[in-house]
Amino acid sequence: MLLGVTGGIAAYKTPDLVRLLIKKGFDVRVAMTKNAEQFVTPVSLRSVSGHRVLTADWDTQEDPFDHLNVGAGLSVALIAPATANFLGKLAHGVADDLLLTTVLALECPLYVAPAMNPRMYANPAVQENIKTLTARGITVIPPSAGAMACGDEGEGRLPALETLVALMEKAAGLNADLSGKKIIVTAGPTEEPIDAVRFISNRSSGRMGVAIAEAARERGAEVTLIHGPLAVPVPDNMTDVPVRTAKEMLDALTERFAACDMLVMAAAVSDFRPARVSDAKVKKNGAELSIALEPNPDILERLGRMKGGRVIIGFAAETENLLANAREKLMKKNLDLICANDVSRSDIGFDSAYNEVHIIGRAGEPVLLGRMEKRALAHRILDEAVKLLPPSRAAAQG
Ligand code: C5P
Repeated sequence: MLLGVTGGIAAYKTPDLVRLLIKKGFDVRVAMTKNAEQFVTPVSLRSVSGHRVLTADWDTQEDPFDHLNVGAGLSVALIAPATANFLGKLAHGVADDLLLTTVLALECPLYVAPAMNPRMYANPAVQENIKTLTARGITVIPPSAGAMACGDEGEGRLPALETLVALMEKAAGLNADLSGKKIIVTAGPTEEPIDAVRFISNRSSGRMGVAIAEAARERGAEVTLIHGPLAVPVPDNMTDVPVRTAKEMLDALTERFAACDMLVMAAAVSDFRPARVSDAKVKKNGAELSIALEPNPDILERLGRMKGGRVIIGFAAETENLLANAREKLMKKNLDLICANDVSRSDIGFDSAYNEVHIIGRAGEPVLLGRMEKRALAHRILDEAVKLLPPSRAAAQG
């Protein structure tokens, strides 16, 4: 593969990115712009990649046609970080350095990972360029949100390196360990109506479940996403089943569970629902109002009883006794894995792009996956889940 590095602060992460890519079996060729050299040296990238680096200095080419030769036989190319300057030039076919010239001559799939200050990223000129590139079949990897090097907060961070690596593996067809598998993921909160306009719900954004659904699809699975109201869009190329209440989620799952290989239950299902729902809006009259609640069915517990050979993964959002409570749920609901997170923390969990979970299996010690982006975490959770799937027939015969 080709890694193009342009001159943003995130360029300092690229030697680590190269090492991770090599670990996954990639032979990485690096090309960099003059500005990138302000943040990372060609010598560093040459040392980790084991190849001469194409720099803006044309004399460093081994062959005067390296910018054309490098593209031959590539599976995929990634520009990370991609600056606003680079996006603008590429969108308009400018080829005033070796990297741009090389990229214009590529025939393989091209991915770009914009990383810049959130205000720059939001600028209509940058967004327009991204649209142009997307329309030309270039995959623009959305930046992550969070605290920036400059102190600003917002969308513009280079996504976690693990996310980039997983995308490259998928693009190169290296990681299809869920291909042929049917996976159901649930995400988001449920809403339990009180009257015509009010409901009981919770702070779940659906980000964790959506990240898992997306990661499973990236690894070749056929994904069904059953979800309550989400704060994030439903990704492409999966079956989208929107529901509202816990009862609707149970019905949607009961209909589909038998045909799946794996269920990841990341939804924050309301444990209770109003016992009576008023068709009209309840009026205030100065008096106190009590709402009687009745328990919702525990969806996982029910499905756990019909588990058969399927893999079931649950989540445990806890505010105390994290591991003990999670382990109890694992056994009670007949799960294979449970991901336990501490929802009393504000830097992870609900409505955050980040999470930190302990993965607990039926045997062995819990594994702590430290605070990372939900997208990266999703792949780590699936790394564990894949090990629990029965070997496919093809693999068993092979
Ligand atoms: O028991 P608790 O609600 O804490 O367990 C959490 C796990 O159970 C999550 O995976 C959640 O999606 C699932 N759950 C469920 N049905 C409910 C409540 C939670 O399947 N009524």
